[in-house]
Amino acid sequence: MAAIFYVKDRAKMKLGIGNDHAAYNMKLQIKEYLESLGHEVVDYGCHSTDSVHYPEFGEKVGRAVANGEVDGGVLICGTGVGISMSANKVHGVRAAVCSEPVTARLTKEHNNANIIAFGERIVGIETAKAICKAWLDAEFQGGRHETRVQMMMDIEMRP
Ligand code: RB5
Repeated sequence: MAAIFYVKDRAKMKLGIGNDHAAYNMKLQIKEYLESLGHEVVDYGCHSTDSVHYPEFGEKVGRAVANGEVDGGVLICGTGVGISMSANKVHGVRAAVCSEPVTARLTKEHNNANIIAFGERIVGIETAKAICKAWLDAEFQGGRHETRVQMMMDIEMRP
């Protein structure tokens, strides 16, 4: 019964999206794509191609994921690196930057990534969509991976 509800929830998630100026155009296309899959998307900015600083948007989406305001997050900057590094500074975030869908799937199955990230200057729009789809469709496998994810999160508790 619980598994059925879980699948139903995954089919329609509330996702946070964030980007910097380098990824504004891709953000618009990905937002539309995620909505076309039936997800609700909360846009944490930025909202133009005017130069901004990616840590602001990585942190906003990271905090929204960590406090349960959204079920998961999508972050895009030029490479996906700076914005995901920023999100990973927020307690409870596991943001993974990917350039292809196999890694995107495995970040959910093995690492239970709660944010997926990629770069507008690195991947094309179809690859970006495939990365999102692979991550959204995948399920955390638990078991030995649960132990490792817990060990990873325990690092945050140590000074
Ligand atoms: C912005 O020029 C660029 O540095 C940023 O989008 C990102 O690639 C950083 O990791």
